[in-house]
This record gives sequence, C-alpha cells and structure tokens, in this order.
Amino acid sequence: MRSDGYGFRSIPGSEQSVQGGPDPLEGRRILVGICGSIAAVKLPLVVSALAKRGADVRCVLTSSAAQLVSPVALASLSRNRCYLDADQWLHTAARPLHIELAEWAELVLLAPLSATSLGRWVHGLADTLLSSVLLACEAPVLAAAAMNTSMWASGPVQHNWRQLHGFGQVLPLGPTPGVLACDRQGDGRMAEPALLLLGLETLQLWGCQRDWQGRRLLVSAGPTREPLDPARCITNASSGLMGVLLAQAARLRGAEVDLVHGPLAVEPALLEGLRCHSAPTAAAMQQALADLQPQADAIAMAAAVADHRRAQPALHKAAKDEVSMLLTSGWEPVPDLLAELVQRRNQRRDPWPQPILGFAAQSGDVLAAAMAKLARKGCDLLFANPIDRPGSGFSVSLNQGWLLAPGAEPVWLDPAHKLAIAHRLLSALGPLVQR
Ligand code: CTP
Repeated sequence: MRSDGYGFRSIPGSEQSVQGGPDPLEGRRILVGICGSIAAVKLPLVVSALAKRGADVRCVLTSSAAQLVSPVALASLSRNRCYLDADQWLHTAARPLHIELAEWAELVLLAPLSATSLGRWVHGLADTLLSSVLLACEAPVLAAAAMNTSMWASGPVQHNWRQLHGFGQVLPLGPTPGVLACDRQGDGRMAEPALLLLGLETLQLWGCQRDWQGRRLLVSAGPTREPLDPARCITNASSGLMGVLLAQAARLRGAEVDLVHGPLAVEPALLEGLRCHSAPTAAAMQQALADLQPQADAIAMAAAVADHRRAQPALHKAAKDEVSMLLTSGWEPVPDLLAELVQRRNQRRDPWPQPILGFAAQSGDVLAAAMAKLARKGCDLLFANPIDRPGSGFSVSLNQGWLLAPGAEPVWLDPAHKLAIAHRLLSALGPLVQR
C-alpha cells in the first residue's frame, strides 16, 4: 500500500484503469464472427443492438453460418457489408481481407463458437476467412460457445476449450444448460444476447484479465420485501442492478459467485452463470448469508435491506380500515446484516481475512454520512453513492460516489456505467483477498 505523505494510505487497486464514459461500446469497431450453430439465429438482434448503441459493426460468417442466418439481414442491421468466405480472394482487393479486418477490429465477438471453428482456431488453421482473421487479430475476443450437449462434453472439444483459456486475449463464455434445438436437455446453449453485450463491455472496460480466478465472491443484491399481511408488503426502489453487475463482472474475471437476492428488476439473462439464492425477506437473506459466508473469499453487500419489519405479519388479509393500524404499530428493527457479517468475520479474523465491501445509498452530505457508516459497520470498503443527483441512484444505468476504506483517503468515482463502477470496486476489493 502506498502512503500519500499525509498519514492516509491509498485504496489498493482503486486507481486501476477502467474506462468510464456513458456507453463503453459507443464508437467501438466491433467484428462479429458467426459460426455454424443454430444459436446464430440470435445474432442479428445482437448486431442490431450494437449498431443502435453507436458501435461500428462488421460481420464475418462461416459457410455453415450463412446457411442459418441471412448475410443480407446482417448487412442491413450492421449498416455495413457482411463478409463470407468467397470474399477472401477477390482480385480487386488491394490488401488481404483477413488482415484488413483483423487490424480494423478493436473488439471481436465470436458467437456462436462451434466445435469446428473452435478446433480450427486452437490448432492454428487458416483455411476460412473467419479462422484467418482470428489468427491475425490482436484485439480481445469474447468467445461464446454453443453446440449439442454430447459434442460439448466430448474429449476433443473439452481439450480445445481448455486450450483456449490459455490464449491471452480471449474471454471464453461457456455454454449454459437448457433445452437445445436437437431436443436434448443439457449444456450447450449460447450465452444470452444480454450477456454477450455485457461481456463485450467488460472487454472494453477491463480486458481479459482473470484476476478473480479461483476465488469465491458472495454478493447480495436487490431490495427485501417485508410482509404486512398475505397481500401487502413494504419494500424499496432498489432494482438490484448494481449488485448483479458486480456479480457478473466478478464472474467474467474468473470468480465463482453466489448471489443472494431479493426480488430483482433486471433482465433474467443477467443472472446466467451465477449461483443464485433467492431471499425475498431480510430474515431469508440473513440465513442465506450466514450459510454462505464460510465459503466466501470476499463479500459485497449491495442489497437494500429493509430497515424495519412487522414483528408478526398478519395471517389474514387486513381490511382497508385496518391497514393504518398495521402501518403504525407492531414494528421491529431489522438486524444489520452487514455488521453481522463483519462481526462473524472478526471473531475468527486470523486466518480468515475475507474482505467485506458495503454500500450506502445517501442523500445530502454523502461523504460525512458515509464515513460515519463505514466506522459503524466496520467493513473494509464502503461505496457511498448519492441518490439525489442525476447520474446515480436507483433504477438508472449510471452510478457515481465515494469509495472509502478505514484510514485511507476517500476516492471519488466519476459518473460511469454501473458495470464500470463494478469493475473499479472489484479492483479495490481484489487486492484485499488473501489468495
Ligand atoms: N445493510 C444491512 N442490513 C440492514 C441495513 C443495511 O446489511 N438491515 C447494509 C446494506 O446492504 C449496505 C449497508 O448496510 O451494504 C448500508 O445500507 P444503508 O441502507 O445505506 O444503511 P443503513 O444501515 O440502513 O443506515 P441509514 O438507513 O440510517 O442510512
């Protein structure tokens, strides 16, 4: 840890470079390589989403992919021509097309990645346009595999997939379980389009470093919902997006992630690849966190836990004129789950460092309130964001705020996409993990 000469230390990793900006994909040159798996039919939507976000998109199709998805549709949605194998050796081209495309790309999305294209790539074969582009390209690649379950589980494919993890510039996204087009149930589905976009954003913001590999992160997210009676509840405006993005960012950086969550208002696709534990009430969240804490290398407590709950929720639905009584009496404070986690950790601190990151949604004087909260809760890092300013708060895609650690100079994080903030927070939490 560095000292700044004033007795404060700096927060390790907090200065690590993560590009901010409102949309990390705007203006980026993105090459989309599509291979012959039925999941290719989802790619026009991804290409369209990228183009709408202001990315410059070019598509390259293998000959099998061109049987499954229309090059004309992709050209139209990307606002650029779409490239096929036959384009590689045009006598009118001044430079080899595969070199042009490889040097043009800033980011590559390879989805779906089929068994054949994986094999070609891993074994250095340059017999198609896409495989030659991949060999010539130095830009980071998000590779999302999709195929039949037995093909995926086969020895050669698993061998090639493991090899891919050793390539420096690749972020591999394995297939997920589900019902496949061949009517099999099992691993083989391509990551959902929302996750492909998140993976590309991560490549742009952070790159391919898997600095959380081999670590287990426990994240809580979303509001809790405390019942008044069987029909009514008290909750808050948290969508859970910040916690979910933190969980996905950690997963893309190699972590195994347990997500304990209340009722979320995020795309279900964003939960893919996380071990999700639904905990709708503070009591359920308290139990899930206690169960999962011993296995965690680090914890991020992003949930907006209720402050109060009814000591005894009514067993029958209250009539309209009884509701005011329900609201005004019979309440108890909810225990502070973050403080409990810190307390349990501290009771056996050595040899169990387990760094804990807390969050604080504040209005008014954010810094003063956050410093008091950090001291009160005893966590190792606290991210405090204003909820009364544009560019941060509940249900918006941006965030900003102060990152605090005991005895360290507070660090201000400028308004940025919540995923960029998530990567900054992981970079600060990571160095505190002891393995
Ligand atoms: N938190 C918790 N259990 C609670 C309340 C909050 O674990 N019962 C956690 C949150 O997950 C967050 C941190 O404590 O990481 C700060 O939450 P916040 O709502 O800002 O703080 P409160 O303790 O509720 O304080 P106040 O509402 O008075 O600002």
